[in-house]
Amino acid sequence: MKRLMRLRASPHLRDLCAETEFNRAQLIQPLFVVEGLESEEPIPGLRDNVRHGGSSLLAQIERDLAAGVTQFLLFPVPGQKKEKGFAHRFTADTIGAIRRQFGDNLSLWIDTCLCSYTTHGHCAVLEGSRIDHQATLDEMANAALAFAEAGAHGISPSDMMDGRVARIRAALDERGMDLVPVMSYSTKFASNFYGPFRNAADSAPQFGDRRHYQLDVRNRSGAIAASIRCAEEGADLLMVKPGGTSLDLIAPISERTGLPVGAYQVSGEYEGLSLLAENGLVNFDEALLETWHVFKRAGAQFIITYGAREARRLGIGR
Ligand code: PBG
Repeated sequence: MKRLMRLRASPHLRDLCAETEFNRAQLIQPLFVVEGLESEEPIPGLRDNVRHGGSSLLAQIERDLAAGVTQFLLFPVPGQKKEKGFAHRFTADTIGAIRRQFGDNLSLWIDTCLCSYTTHGHCAVLEGSRIDHQATLDEMANAALAFAEAGAHGISPSDMMDGRVARIRAALDERGMDLVPVMSYSTKFASNFYGPFRNAADSAPQFGDRRHYQLDVRNRSGAIAASIRCAEEGADLLMVKPGGTSLDLIAPISERTGLPVGAYQVSGEYEGLSLLAENGLVNFDEALLETWHVFKRAGAQFIITYGAREARRLGIGR
């Protein structure tokens, strides 16, 4: 009799046959820093992820490094909102402080988008209710330059505006920062799963929604095309988001572009696991690990997750 079960009969055999393995170096921990915040504030739904003030952020990074995290994605939340002409002093100072304290012991990516900066909460400069595309790209390039000059290891544009990767790449290259990589949110859907994040980043749109620039979940070809566009514009790393609702797209995108493709396990997905656990319906740790393995099985090279700092405790090596 053919026995598929034979190789699952012991933990050693299961480990021997495991096809997906990964390590902590492939998990990216998001961090929120809020201008003017004295200490820290909880983020409903995101467990031990909080909104940090400056010194609280440095203390958190120190704890995370000790817990074996090396990759961080920073979300700066400015104190003052504007229509355009955004200032980046606060973020640049924060990046400088992180690099002074931790040097190259970490890899620091900066989420680059306008939605936390604008009065209306859209990821663009608006002219009335229309997107002013050129002004938006100018602002994105300015932000990227300010972050990279302050010492960011990488830039991560999350706005989904056409042309922003090319524009950021050209701006960085022009200033001689041709080794600063761009990790693009390349296949990013208009999604219901960003709720806790928008509170954390104070970035919910004040009118309308993001369907004009974020992708339509009904579409597969458009979703793959968006990543191909970013690859052609010079992105180094690509991403699908939300990860859990984009599993089918990871392999086709990496085959079509030849680039590493990550999955962003977004705030609503993480909160979902957390709520299930609070209601006694799943074991949080095991469920979290399960989702990570599934991202890997689907072909994700890296995972952005609010649980990266739990990885060592969950037995993930290196
Ligand atoms: C900003 C941005 C968002 C997320 C990451 N960058 C929110 C959005 O597009 O509305 C979501 C992350 C999460 O939910 O964890 N453009």
